[in-house]
Order: sequence, then structure tokens, then C-alpha cells
Amino acid sequence: MIKVSEYNKFLSYKKNKLFFEDLPLINLGEKFNTPLFCYSVSQIEHNLEELHNAFKKVKPLICYALKANFNSNIIKILTKRGCGIDVVSNGELQKSLKIGVDNKKIVFSGVGKTSKEIEIAIKKNIKQINVESIEELDEITSICKKINKTINICLRVNPDINAQTHEKISTGRSEDKFGISDKRVFEIFKKYQTNKFVKIIGLSIHIGSQIELIEPFYKAFKKIKLQILKLKKKGFKVSSLDLGGGVGIKYNDKNKILDIKSYARIIDELFSDLDLEIIIEPGRYLVGSSGIILSRVIRTKSGNNKDFVIIDAGMDNLIRPALYGAEHKILPVKKKNQTNLNVYDIVGPICESSDVFIKKMKIHRLKAEDLIVICSTGAYGSCMASKYNLREPAKEIFIKKKKIILSDN
Ligand code: LLP
Repeated sequence: MIKVSEYNKFLSYKKNKLFFEDLPLINLGEKFNTPLFCYSVSQIEHNLEELHNAFKKVKPLICYALKANFNSNIIKILTKRGCGIDVVSNGELQKSLKIGVDNKKIVFSGVGKTSKEIEIAIKKNIKQINVESIEELDEITSICKKINKTINICLRVNPDINAQTHEKISTGRSEDKFGISDKRVFEIFKKYQTNKFVKIIGLSIHIGSQIELIEPFYKAFKKIKLQILKLKKKGFKVSSLDLGGGVGIKYNDKNKILDIKSYARIIDELFSDLDLEIIIEPGRYLVGSSGIILSRVIRTKSGNNKDFVIIDAGMDNLIRPALYGAEHKILPVKKKNQTNLNVYDIVGPICESSDVFIKKMKIHRLKAEDLIVICSTGAYGSCMASKYNLREPAKEIFIKKKKIILSDN
């Protein structure tokens, strides 16, 4: 029997009613329109603390990958506790700066930064730009010359490692569009060794997202370590290493997730003696488990050979099932007698056959107005929402103990 706390430590049934932090979700369903994104502040704090504590030797700078969820409250919660931010657009950069994030803790990643975005980032004196190609590096150099400024650079290396995750979120194989071939790294370090504007201080890597096994991380990190040792041996100064994000979280009863301690252990083992500043860029790990979508059954529908439950959350709120075939755990807000289970396809209201959350879910009989919860929607949920079908955007609220914190995003 899987415990609901495996999805979120602050989610629990009390007398068959589902509570989030200390609030009964039924009350939230009465108070707010659904679908509703709810985030547990305690869970975000817990995730960050667990990640911090997992490291015993290396003390990495945790730069939260803002793409996972750009809600202002999340930026504030994490940066107040020492995190930096990994941004991938001027929009993310401006939002972070506006909220007061320290520019010296902002890393700019991304395969398609425009020259305008690069210029703004350099002018804002951010910590570093992670560069994805030789062409991008040349452009950064001319921009620096033009505005007479310098910038720190990490070269994003493509280690040609299969992260064994979903095809669409795999980024570390040579056929993927990301990073620079590890064979070119030496020549780039050499070319820029004495450059006045661009200071190559190290390497970065990010092999994919929702990685559930430790082996791909280990292989990729080992490869990058060898690269650093080689560079150092040839006399280059390497002072920074950005290991990206990618740690997976639990989405359903089937997936088994790597232990964060083993992730931290390999980083400790491989890099603690190299005199490097280590950066990591977790997105999903920090916020994914903190969020749920509270949704209401619009109606049930009997088909020819199956029954459907149509809920008011759809692929416009959470596109992950339609895009990656992701299955997010669904829980009833009010548990009923389990002896008489029905089999349903749980679907959204959007006019697409891909708007399906779970096929063949066994659950007690549901009816219109019943509330359900979709778990693990804190990352890549609201930020990937669309206006499709022109439905009203879902609200987002934060909860700490009994307190509701409204959010205008
Ligand atoms: N760093 C870089 C350079 C990245 O490209 C990403 C994610 C991260 C860090 C954060 O990765 P995380 O720790 O969250 O796995 N929409 C997809 C995920 C796309 C991830 C894109 N890059 C999904 O819903 O699964």
C-alpha cells in the first residue's frame, strides 16, 4: 500500500478526508474555483533542506531552475534560504532581478539566447553564462567588446550519455541540440585563454530531466571530471563546475526514484578534492512534489465499453500527460468505501483525445462535484499552462500550516 505522504509529506487522510498541510481540501474546494494549483510551503522548505543535508563534503550553490515554476512566491522562498537562480530567458532574468535576487547568484543557461538577451545579462553583471556553442561564444565576445564589459563563462559540454529518461526531456546525447562536443573543449579553452572580455572559468552539464537512476549521473559526472583533470593538467585554470539539474521525483505508484543522498554522495566523492565551486540547478526536485491540482468532477459518462470521469482540470493546466505520457497520481478528496471499485478513464474537458490524465484507474464510484487531487504538479505544471480552448487560467495558492497565501504569480 503506497502512502500518500510519499507524494507530499504534508498530504494526509484524516478520517477519510484529504488534508494539505493542516487544511481540509474540501474547504479549499468550497472557497475557491477549481481547478486550483495549491502549493505546500513546508514541502518546498523540506525539499531544499533535504538536498542541502545530503551533501557532506561539497557545499554546492543551488541555483533553482526557474523554468520549473516561475511563481514569485517560490523565488522568494528559495532565494531567502540562499539559493541562486538558473534562468533561460530575459523574462526569467527580469523577474528574478525585480524580486531582488542577487545578480551574482544568477546563471544564464539555454540553447538559444538572443543577442539582446546576452547583452542585458552581461550589463546586469550576472554570475555566469553557460554557453552552448562556439558560435554563441563568438557572439558573446563581440557583445562584450561592443559594451566594454567582461563575463564569466562555463562551457556546457554534451557528454553523449543517455539519461534513460523520456525521449523528449533527454538532453545529453550527441544527437540532442544541447551543449558542445567534449572533443572541442580543449581547443576553445586555448582560443580564449588570453581573451580580455570572455573568461572561461569552467564547465557545465545537464543530461536530462526526471532522471530516475543514479548510473547516468555517475557516468556523465565521471566523464566531466576526467575532462577537468585533463584541462588542469594542460595548465588551464578551471574553478567552476555546474552539474545542472535532472533529479526525478515520484509521480505514480510505479516509478521508483533515486535517493537524493546517493546523488549527493557521487558529487561529494568525485569533486570534493578538485578545488571547484560546484553549482547545481535543480528545478523539479525542489518544487515538483510541493504542488497539487485540486479539481472537480464535471460529470461522469458511460461509453460503449468504458466509463469516463470528466474533471475540470485539463491539458491546458497540466500538459505533462499529453506531452510525455506522464501519469500523475490522482486521489479522491473524500475517500469512500473501497469494496466497490469502478474503473474509469480520468479525462479533462479539452477537445483533444490526448487530454487524458489516467486510463483505467480503479477508484470508488465518482459523481459530479466530487473533488479530486492531481499530485506532483509543482514543477512544469502552471508554467507550461496554455490558453487552449480559452478557459479561465487556474489560480495558484500557497499554504503553510493553516495559512493560505494568495498569489498573483
Ligand atoms: N538546467 C538546465 C540547463 C535545464 O535545461 C533544466 C531543465 C534544468 C536545469 C532543470 O531540470 P530539472 O531539475 O527540473 O529536471 N517540461 C519537462 C521538463 C523539461 C526540463 C527542461 N530543462 C517536464 O515536464 O518533465
